[in-house]
Amino acid sequence: MAPTQSIVPVKPIKTEISRNDFPEGFVWGCGTSAYQVCNILDGTNGNIAVDMYSRYKEDIRMMKSMGFEAYRFSISWSRILPGGKLSLGINQEGIDYYNDLINTLIANDIKPYVTLFHWDLPYLLEKEYGGFLSEKIVYDFRDFAELCFWEFGDRVQHWITLNEAWTYSCQGYVNRIFPPGNGYGFGGDQMNPRDNSVIDQRKELEIGQLEKGIDELGKMAENEDLGVSFVPYRGVRVESQETFVFNNKTIVLRKLMSPPRDKAADKERAKEAYTVARNLLLSHAAAVQSYRKKFQEHQKGKIGITLVTHWFEPLNDTEKDRKAAKRALDFMLGWFLEPVLRGRYPQNMMDYAGHHIKPFSPEESNLLRGSLDFLGLNYYTAWYATHDDNPDAAEGYYRDQKTGSSWLYIVPWGIYKLLKSINDAFNNDTDKLPAIYITENGCDEQNNHKLTPNTASQDTQRQNYFRDHLAKILEAMNKDHVKIEAYFAWSWCDNFEWYDGYRSRFGIVYVDYKNDLQRHAKDSAKWFAKFLQK
Ligand code: BGC
Repeated sequence: MAPTQSIVPVKPIKTEISRNDFPEGFVWGCGTSAYQVCNILDGTNGNIAVDMYSRYKEDIRMMKSMGFEAYRFSISWSRILPGGKLSLGINQEGIDYYNDLINTLIANDIKPYVTLFHWDLPYLLEKEYGGFLSEKIVYDFRDFAELCFWEFGDRVQHWITLNEAWTYSCQGYVNRIFPPGNGYGFGGDQMNPRDNSVIDQRKELEIGQLEKGIDELGKMAENEDLGVSFVPYRGVRVESQETFVFNNKTIVLRKLMSPPRDKAADKERAKEAYTVARNLLLSHAAAVQSYRKKFQEHQKGKIGITLVTHWFEPLNDTEKDRKAAKRALDFMLGWFLEPVLRGRYPQNMMDYAGHHIKPFSPEESNLLRGSLDFLGLNYYTAWYATHDDNPDAAEGYYRDQKTGSSWLYIVPWGIYKLLKSINDAFNNDTDKLPAIYITENGCDEQNNHKLTPNTASQDTQRQNYFRDHLAKILEAMNKDHVKIEAYFAWSWCDNFEWYDGYRSRFGIVYVDYKNDLQRHAKDSAKWFAKFLQK
């Protein structure tokens, strides 16, 4: 969700905690997403990632041995509908693959929690009408969702329509460092992800600017043990490409160019993000409507959405900063949560960005209101928010909200405050907040290719992160009666971390990229196994 952060040590909050502190029936799982772990069937435009595509049986056995009872994964839309649309044909091999994955999970007593869209959009839909920029996506998404309910709904009891609509809208269209890519298709059809390229666009930009000599570039590229380069994202273009040889290794150097940031461009980006967000919400509502009308009665499953937010803490104890923190929360969480609970955008968004936002029609609003049987929530971190009349961004999304924020890293109390604030605001007879599932929570470390798998697996920090966040979740449940029914650690294994590629490791299982993608349980996985003992 966010570029890798450096980490501030935290004091342990509670030294002993176990599943037995949580209510009976609380669901414990871990998660991944299709693009981050699988290769793409036709192999032309994807990423080998950690090849869960062919190793899922082994992974599932390992999950079971640790005591996990649920696994959250996403279905790759183009794996089952290669053209994105029903009319362009179904890929039976893709359907068979997911059937086998689901059956294997169930045979191992692990419940599938399935995300329908975790950002890997079929290329043809991007090409034909600009993906989520067009309302046409609503019908194609609904068809894709229906196909999944039809094929897998007899066994899948939990559906998540979208993962983090905020990230897709904002990181994809405002910051443009995350999918949907730049029109070449995310993953890049003309690039081999495992060539010996200098590693990612940030490094490449730096290199472009610094104009280093070949020797120094070669050393930098070699130090990045995984030569990975992924397609430049939307808005970033390849300016030039050079190939050179260093220590008998071919190194491809791409100079990337960002479009200039100016007022008009920022406004355009904001408008795109608001449009994409709206179409994501309408797609979600259409899928939920279809599930409820045609499938739910027989299949008896639940359907919801996964949203992400940081907690925003006022920087100063002033009215202005408290309002700024609320605005920041509304611009990240409320933007999506209020439509699905109340059928409208937060007042703050309409007040500050209303000129860019098309409101919902009465029919759309009805469809959205109450369109979730559970709320999936992803939490990683907290930020300070302070009022700023003149934020850095010339125009657009960041300026609209009039806040200036800075990173604060591991903040377990942030999840407590967030859960309490959601509960206080929406757990009432009108808004009818359903049960919350924590669908992602975790932290990463930078890949250090000098460490052996054993040393790299000593991840005390992650272990403490889980322990402290779980203690805070428990506090919200016990003290404030927040209804939370499931928790999924992010992530099952190290994987392709979007903007950070393979340099960031989020897994509780270490993946040895140099040795046939072998898996090693990290200390945090062993900690979980102990935590999960009944
Ligand atoms: C996303 C994941 C990602 C994680 C860590 C979440 O925003 O859903 O795909 O790996 O954050 O950045």
